[in-house]
Amino acid sequence: MAVLIDPNDASQWSFVLELLSQGKPVVLPTETVYGLAAVATHEPALAQIFRIKERPHFDPLIVHVLDVSHARHLVTKITPLHEQLARAFWPGPLSLLFEKTEQVPDLCTAGSQWVALRSPEHAVFRRALKDLQKPLAAPSANRFGRISPTMASHALTELGPMGVEAIVHGGPCRLGLESTVVKVLSQTQIHILRPGSLSREHIAEVLGPKVEIVVSEQGHGMQMESPGLSQSHYAPRKKKLHFVENPLEQWFEWQLSDVRSSALLCAYADSHCETYRQLPWAVVEVLSQSCIDTEAAPKVFQTLRSLDENNKVQKIVVLKCSDSGLGQAMNDRFRRASQK
Ligand code: TXA
Ligand code: MG
Repeated sequence: MAVLIDPNDASQWSFVLELLSQGKPVVLPTETVYGLAAVATHEPALAQIFRIKERPHFDPLIVHVLDVSHARHLVTKITPLHEQLARAFWPGPLSLLFEKTEQVPDLCTAGSQWVALRSPEHAVFRRALKDLQKPLAAPSANRFGRISPTMASHALTELGPMGVEAIVHGGPCRLGLESTVVKVLSQTQIHILRPGSLSREHIAEVLGPKVEIVVSEQGHGMQMESPGLSQSHYAPRKKKLHFVENPLEQWFEWQLSDVRSSALLCAYADSHCETYRQLPWAVVEVLSQSCIDTEAAPKVFQTLRSLDENNKVQKIVVLKCSDSGLGQAMNDRFRRASQK
């Protein structure tokens, strides 16, 4: 049975450190989503992560470190562009690919020579890294292919029955979408393998026009490069999700009875949303009335989870929002959730 841990209680916190030292995974909060953490250099601990999440071994794990100095023994080299990105965005929601040393087990990277590293910002996760002085691998604390948890209670629902022993409380996740995964291709080109809580525009602002940013088209390079990005991901457990990329073309298929038993979910109260919300939906959810991406993004997974549990709702209809800023990551998650 899983226990919910108060990180400010000294004896509860020692229990967490003890579990991690014994190679047992623990759920820890990060600023993006809750993660299922275990010592990254300890292969049996990694095996437990895969078992608890029911995660296939082809899907690599992100390794969390305090800072660049704690990454040195895990990677063969740190290029100037890696340094620049880490200086600008660590701690924070950026996972960077590096060539790994043998300190990182092949199990962690699914056999790849590349390891994704990130320095989380959340104080509780950082405390675990400081106290252990070891890197922690942590995938999102959900069962494979399900919605990522942004609250301790979500992680309890997902992984409590799967044999995880402790779930550390850290409040609702500030950002609510996973980190952006980036591979440095050369000193003038980077590849966003997974859009996430750090927007492409924000990266471009820091790197300037001399560095080209390539973003994978859905389901192409991204899947080969970042094997965990299977099409069907973040799927609501019970309800079918329809992602409407172009309302004008897709709309006529809908009957009024479908609308009455469905939920409409819009990231923003934009013009499409204002038009379609007039229909007699069972539920309408708008994540940001003022169309602010940082206001909408933290609510995405939580809202999908609650609509999935809502008995009035049989289907969930999501309207695509503008791809700018965090819209790109939100649309990516909605698109994947629709591909069940
Ligand atoms: O925000 C986050 O990144 C959260 C928190 C807990 O840190 N973690 C997270 O991990 O989202 P996960 O396992 O749910 O997603 C990690 C994804 C993998 O599915 C894969 O697509 C990509 O990151 N990834 C990890 N390591 C990689 C590697 N070595 N090469 C390519 N892609 C990698
Ligand atoms: Mg995940």
